[in-house]
Amino acid sequence: EPTIKVALLGFGTVGSGVYQMLTENKSKITQKKQVDFEICKILVGNRTKHQAAIEKGVPITTDFSEILNDPTIQIVVEVMGSAETAREYIIHSLEAGKHVVTANKDALALYGDELTRVAKENNKNLFFEASVAGGIPIIRALTDSFIADSIQEVSGIINGTTNFIISRMSEEGESYEQALALAQEKGFAEADPTGDVEGLDAARKLIILVKLAFGYRMKLDDFPVSGITQLKQHDFDAAKHYGFTLKLIGSAKQLEEGFTARVGMYLVPLAHPLAMVKNEYNGVFVKGEAIGETMFYGPGAGSLPTANSVVADILAISDRIKWQQTESFLPLVSNDYSWHQAGT
Ligand code: HSE
Repeated sequence: EPTIKVALLGFGTVGSGVYQMLTENKSKITQKKQVDFEICKILVGNRTKHQAAIEKGVPITTDFSEILNDPTIQIVVEVMGSAETAREYIIHSLEAGKHVVTANKDALALYGDELTRVAKENNKNLFFEASVAGGIPIIRALTDSFIADSIQEVSGIINGTTNFIISRMSEEGESYEQALALAQEKGFAEADPTGDVEGLDAARKLIILVKLAFGYRMKLDDFPVSGITQLKQHDFDAAKHYGFTLKLIGSAKQLEEGFTARVGMYLVPLAHPLAMVKNEYNGVFVKGEAIGETMFYGPGAGSLPTANSVVADILAISDRIKWQQTESFLPLVSNDYSWHQAGT
């Protein structure tokens, strides 16, 4: 089998999950996909934090140029963090002729157009299944399965931290402060949970979904965004009284009268599939002209669920690399999986 060489940028929650999956499931993957993998470099910011891994033989480096200048590395996986650093690493990698997989919702929400343009210019793939709703294959659904349909609505519970807080308030009668503390204790909330609770994390993910589902390029101040910080216990009682529950939803709809998008609290009928999405889980409701109503449910974060999406992207790119080596007429860059042009 051909061996595909992969480099990871980042060895945190997601990066270590990707490493674990690609090493532990190696023979299974090789058998199924007829391709072998080697993670040959892992870029970290600080070596001392990863001493234990280094001693076990994990190929840690702090020098990005070792990855960039190694022509045998075909796929770079960016799971590192800040949007600006990620943008630079992604652009440099694409320009150096490497395919890129990223989980970075912030980088895509801010620089998605630029990044996909650079990918196309260099005839390389940029895949990002893990960027929205971690373990749920929603990017593939929108850009592949539903590509022939006209999407009318995408409404998602796409932030696990806030959904956890809401569930605790609604079902356990906890206060906002108690529920937030528990979310932090369980590791769902970030050290600074502002982006989660103010709806910004959901807004960035909605920007990505809207681009893929409707073709519109939104910026953060183009649509209303509010979070859960004002929620009170009695809001849930009132909602329940009328047969509803309250959810933080990122919603976009193509209506007769125009397009609308918003992140905020919604009253959801108890029978709606989004009402069943509880605790730290994510759910995305998609309505299309042809397909009708569909619902995607699953873990929106976490090491292995997110890593599973990243590894699926690595495998999809590997397939294309393999096919291109044998069938030269197949295009390497598929337009249907990229950030497509605005619809109107
Ligand atoms: N903070 C995010 C969440 C992590 O709670 O959903 C996954 O993007």
